[in-house]
Amino acid sequence: MIIEGLVTSLDFSGRLNVAPMGPIVEGDFESIVLRPFQPSTTFDNLSQQRCGVFHVVDEIDVIARAAIGCLDVEPETVPAETVAGRVLVRCCRWFEFQVTAIDTTQQRSVMNCRIVHRGERRPYLGMNRARNAVIEAAILATRIHLIPGEEIQQSFRSLRSAVEKTGNEAEFRAFQILAEYVAQGGSQKA
Ligand SMILES: Cc1cc2nc3c(=O)[nH]c(=O)nc-3n(C[C@H](O)[C@H](O)[C@H](O)COP(=O)(O)O)c2cc1C
Repeated sequence: MIIEGLVTSLDFSGRLNVAPMGPIVEGDFESIVLRPFQPSTTFDNLSQQRCGVFHVVDEIDVIARAAIGCLDVEPETVPAETVAGRVLVRCCRWFEFQVTAIDTTQQRSVMNCRIVHRGERRPYLGMNRARNAVIEAAILATRIHLIPGEEIQQSFRSLRSAVEKTGNEAEFRAFQILAEYVAQGGSQKA
């Protein structure tokens, strides 16, 4: 199953990168397969450092902003316990991993990862349609160069209804940032 969440990774100088990623999860996170596109910062960092942290989250503001490269405030983190990495303070669960194999033959690389440590900061709040809709909108926003504009606008119109019916202020704000980004063709960072 693919679980959407956030990956933190570090570059050679220790600079933090936060990116939404959807790894294929084996069982109860016994292992994960990450598939970062080339080029991307996550691909570079994980190729070099061979470790990182995957987070299960239930808030969508960081996912929305990081997806379109406008994470203006770095999320608060603490050091990972067993790998050279950082753990997001605002997460439900985290999984520290080591990259055991990398296949770079396709533009979407394949990285097999072993979970070496896991922890929980707080329980998952529960499923919410507005949050799911923001995740869908964020994925669309990262693909505006691949999908026709009218198709994206149509999808945003139907996603907006779930956000308005079932979300709170944070969901409206995250959705609005993404809607403005796609309306501007992705050229402007919100
Ligand atoms: C929910 C979600 C899941 C995503 N999963 C992936 C993924 O598995 N692989 C990938 O390359 N990009 C994925 N993306 C897109 C990246 O997050 C996006 O391209 C991002 O800008 C990459 O950031 P980076 O250059 O900092 O690594 C996903 C986006 C979202 C919103």
